[in-house]
Amino acid sequence: MTYAPPRAAVLAGIGSWLPPDVLTNAQLEAELDTSDEWIRTRTGIASRHRVMPGTSTSELAVEAGRRALKSSQSDAVDAVVLATSTPDELCPATAPDVASRLGLGQVAAFDVSAVCAGFVYGLGTAAGLIAAGIAERVLLIGAEAFTSLVDPGDRTTAAIFGDGAGAVVLRAGDVDEPGAIRSLVLGSDGRGNHLLHVPAGGARQREQTETASRFLQLQGREIFRHAVRHMGASCREATARAGWELSDVDRLVAHQANARITKSLGDALGVPPGKRASNIERVGNTAAASVPVLLDEDNSSGALTEGQRVLITAFGGGLAWGAATLVWPVLHSVA
Ligand code: UT7
Repeated sequence: MTYAPPRAAVLAGIGSWLPPDVLTNAQLEAELDTSDEWIRTRTGIASRHRVMPGTSTSELAVEAGRRALKSSQSDAVDAVVLATSTPDELCPATAPDVASRLGLGQVAAFDVSAVCAGFVYGLGTAAGLIAAGIAERVLLIGAEAFTSLVDPGDRTTAAIFGDGAGAVVLRAGDVDEPGAIRSLVLGSDGRGNHLLHVPAGGARQREQTETASRFLQLQGREIFRHAVRHMGASCREATARAGWELSDVDRLVAHQANARITKSLGDALGVPPGKRASNIERVGNTAAASVPVLLDEDNSSGALTEGQRVLITAFGGGLAWGAATLVWPVLHSVA
């Protein structure tokens, strides 16, 4: 699916929030049959943030959303799109509660579920609302309490995933403006559904026949292979649709799943290491929050600057993936 906007969605604000509690590799080493060395060399992760009992996705989403609204210098939005695979409840969506708690009134609000590709799917959804004239301004949040899906005794998933939230405000504008989403591609392949899933708790398997079925089950090696392939192909398509060469890209902002995935992707695309954004060492894999948290951190640190050509990409369960391009605008950072 591709995106060719009659009026574009333009980035107008950004913010993020990570819960204060940090889980280090040393702590995991003490609890599980793993080592700091294995986790660092196989994933690039040294620590991750996690929610404590009593904190859920909506709290993270509100914190990030508040910062993005402040950054955009306006609280006026027509819609809240929340990309998450860890909603507060199975039903209803979490977005209306987030919108209310942000004091946004009776705006349209709904969740988008595409796991680690959630933010890119959310970008497509927000851009569609704007292109159709349904909304002038949209608050898009990627938020996850992903550790709530992780079996604390599973050394593989416990080492990878973390919690957090990132958000952007998008406004209607022109495709040639800085900040405008210039191209966006999305894809999926449901044949890989079983490679990353939580078997129980949905309509198919309502009862938990075994404790493990309520936790995330990951076939890491297979997912790794698909991630590099599909992010690579969608990056090539998104840059071509923007009228760019891959060598024009100033910053590759890829979903933070594994430092080795980002390396393989960057190498395959010919984007040199200095142009690859990364925070996986401190943040781990935060699913739908991963890309907007990274964008916000890079904007605050000055790694992302006005006029840079930015290529965003993500891949995850579903399987689902996507990529988008934009020229980075001036955005206020909010601590
Ligand atoms: O966000 C999108 C979705 N997620 C991803 O994209 C994740 C993609 N996959 C990956 O990042 C990697 O495949 C993993 C990090 C999940 C696993 O790394 P790997 O290098 O592919 O390891 P593996 O699954 O092939 O396992 C190799 C060995 C196994 O032991 P045996 O069977 O060879 O004895 C695992 O049991 O490493 C073992 N292992 C660990 N050892 C120490 C797995 N996790 C750990 C661990 N500590 N935390």
